[in-house]
Amino acid sequence: MLAASEAPRPESRADAVETNLLLWWEDFYVPVFKYILPKMGTLEGKKVLELGTGTGGTATLLAKRGASVIGIDLLPFRLAEAKARASEHEVAESVDFALMDAMHLAFPDNTFDFIISKSVLVFTEHAQTAKECYRVLKPGGKAIFIENMRYHPMAWLYRKIFLKYSAKLRYFSIRDVETVGAEFENLEHREFHLSAVGALFWQKCIPIPMFYRWTLRLLKAIDLSVLKCLPFFKRFCWITAMICQKD
Ligand SMILES: C[S@@+](CC[C@H](N)C(=O)[O-])C[C@H]1O[C@@H](n2cnc3c(N)ncnc32)[C@H](O)[C@@H]1O
Repeated sequence: MLAASEAPRPESRADAVETNLLLWWEDFYVPVFKYILPKMGTLEGKKVLELGTGTGGTATLLAKRGASVIGIDLLPFRLAEAKARASEHEVAESVDFALMDAMHLAFPDNTFDFIISKSVLVFTEHAQTAKECYRVLKPGGKAIFIENMRYHPMAWLYRKIFLKYSAKLRYFSIRDVETVGAEFENLEHREFHLSAVGALFWQKCIPIPMFYRWTLRLLKAIDLSVLKCLPFFKRFCWITAMICQKD
């Protein structure tokens, strides 16, 4: 039997991420949410806007943590799916959904404590969306944008070959991150996953789950060290998380 000090410690609530609500690429988004959730602090009674909610995973995750969430999207069928997901997780009364464009928000100034989006700004004109977010955020509020970056070599190749529509999307460079941040008083950002994406070989090409898990863990550790010692390489990461604060 393990001594108490050796037993695996349950994750604190701030660190635990409901992986199933990240919906896809969970192994890669868990570290991103572990970075952003503690920055949001306690969500009890906080008003949150989610841009491009899709099927509502993030909105549901935040509602389960006590937030009152409005999820917007341009696609009515996505909103219907998001509503069903919130009901399934018994948070329907804490989440509202609305058909709305992230670049033209129909909310008064200073409405939300937090705004969050995941893989949505790439569909919009960055500065215009950031301006709208700044307007509807309360003073002291934070906008958190989790986005796909432009220059990750494997992601770049994948998009070129398989995602024809990707040519129209505005993937992020470090300069784009700074452009968004310039609309706010404070910007903090962190980039994720350089070599770790290589682990997908064992998931997508030769599916050997054990090799996938080991390679992923090893490459994530390598990425952490490389990005710490050689920050230049953050521009070649796959995902960026921006935390923009309004004073
Ligand atoms: C890649 S999906 C991400 C969905 C969700 N955020 C997630 O991570 O599961 C992008 C979503 O953004 C929505 N979207 C794209 N442009 C938008 C806009 N201008 N305003 C609101 N939603 C938008 C799309 O309809 C789609 O549901």
